[in-house]
Amino acid sequence: MNTAVDNKDKKTSPAACVPAHVAIIMDGNGRWAKSRLMPRSYGHLKGMERMIGLLEHAFDVGVRYVTVYALSTENLSRPKEEVDALFGLFRKYFNEYARKIIERESRLCILGDVTALPSDIQDMVAEIESQSRRFEGRCVNIALNYGARDEIVRAVNLAAERGEKVDKESFSSLLYTGGQPDPDLIIRTGKEKRLSNFLLWQAAYAELYFSDKMFPAFSDKDFDAALKDYASRERRFGKV
Ligand code: FPP
Repeated sequence: MNTAVDNKDKKTSPAACVPAHVAIIMDGNGRWAKSRLMPRSYGHLKGMERMIGLLEHAFDVGVRYVTVYALSTENLSRPKEEVDALFGLFRKYFNEYARKIIERESRLCILGDVTALPSDIQDMVAEIESQSRRFEGRCVNIALNYGARDEIVRAVNLAAERGEKVDKESFSSLLYTGGQPDPDLIIRTGKEKRLSNFLLWQAAYAELYFSDKMFPAFSDKDFDAALKDYASRERRFGKV
């Protein structure tokens, strides 16, 4: 599904300049902490706090879908100490944040293979997914143990198991993001300029925005600057 507006609409309606779906690759927690002579886990703590603030801000400015890359399939192979610290943060902050999501009548979806996560975390996310399923206007997607190639292979296998021949629309519906609009804008912090196995199918026509800021330092103003840059772009979706 693609809800992005064309350039003609942008000129006539300022609200149309706000992307419906923004996805964020939150890179740079480790380097941010290192530059302050602090452990990587401190960078993740500050990244977590920033993530929560940014999600609230994105809704405040009218974005309806926000996807954050919290843990890739590859991240799970980091030293056990770091992975445990990330899960510890998740346990500490998730329920409190989930309450805010529900208060804002927003849906929360997890993208990724949750079966490889600790069982208490699986229970926490299943509970909030089920409680928030009734909300349709806004959605936060948290990519956890997510990899786009795994997601695509999973969708192919689902179609094969069902004996279905797919087209672009039906294939999209088999992805973790099934039924949601594709991201209009993908932001990556932390200086690197690549997608790192994030939303490869869904990113087909996304605008890309790269920030040199490390994620814990990526402010609401920086996010607004990304939206402003997006609003200035002409999206043609392959047409003239
Ligand atoms: C990339 O920075 C960031 C991550 C691997 C994790 C992102 C997680 C959060 C923002 C916290 C919320 C999520 C959970 C699951 C608690 P990096 O460590 O690769 O930084 P570097 O490139 O500077 O080393």
